[in-house]
Amino acid sequence: MTVYFIGAGPGDPELITVKGQRLIHSCPVILYAGSLVPEAVLQGHRGEQVVNTAELHLGEIVELLRLAHERGQDVARVHSGDPSLYGAIGEQIRELRRLGIPFEIVPGVTAAAACAALLESELTLPGIAQTVILTRYGTTSPMPEGEQLHDLARHRATLAIHLGVRQLPAIVGELLPHYGADCPVAVIHRASWPDQDWVQGTLSDIEEKVAAKDFRRTALILVGRVLDPGAFAESALYDAAHRHLYRPSSD
Ligand SMILES: C[S@@+](CC[C@H](N)C(=O)[O-])C[C@H]1O[C@@H](n2cnc3c(N)ncnc32)[C@H](O)[C@@H]1O
Repeated sequence: MTVYFIGAGPGDPELITVKGQRLIHSCPVILYAGSLVPEAVLQGHRGEQVVNTAELHLGEIVELLRLAHERGQDVARVHSGDPSLYGAIGEQIRELRRLGIPFEIVPGVTAAAACAALLESELTLPGIAQTVILTRYGTTSPMPEGEQLHDLARHRATLAIHLGVRQLPAIVGELLPHYGADCPVAVIHRASWPDQDWVQGTLSDIEEKVAAKDFRRTALILVGRVLDPGAFAESALYDAAHRHLYRPSSD
């Protein structure tokens, strides 16, 4: 018996891994984070017990996992995007280890990747930004020392800010001194869902544009000059003069 933590991807049921889908189809017990995982991802399952955990607390979820273990039944524990990011799997893993229940993690397509794809953007452009910071903004869990948005903003890396769309005015205020008013920003709502929508602007006008759309949740804020880079350098990887293991010479 194994608990499989499965990344469901950002919404589109075709953006789950082959392995994740195979496990959803074969596990007799399915627990899914229904606030962000669409039921379409579960299509084709043959689960005897299928539970939306959106309304359960940790103790209740762990009890379901423990009972499945007692019955010897594999569990598909389905989380949105990639389970390693803001998925609260750490606390579940701690409990599974304590109870001696085996588990495995199957990664997924994270929201930031889906949003970059939608915007047809590379988040790491040579000479513009070579670092992406995945972070969150919110009032529920405090950020650790040194990880306040204004601390991260000093790097001027590409930012993917989760859970923050309702705090957009505060976010803009923290970013402006570091990125400048003309820095491109995109706010993407439910990327890859049938009702996906997004706006692009700059730090000076994004609040107004998002207010007009009324995005309130499940939106990612991408910030950085990679979103509207103008001219940028070419990569070394595909430079005709650059030699490497797979292209040792041009002959
Ligand atoms: C609890 S976090 C889960 C992140 C998820 N584990 C991942 O890897 O994408 C939820 C936040 O991720 C972002 N998010 C998740 N799915 C999204 C989507 N399809 N489009 C835009 N943002 C999304 C939003 O900021 C949302 O508030």
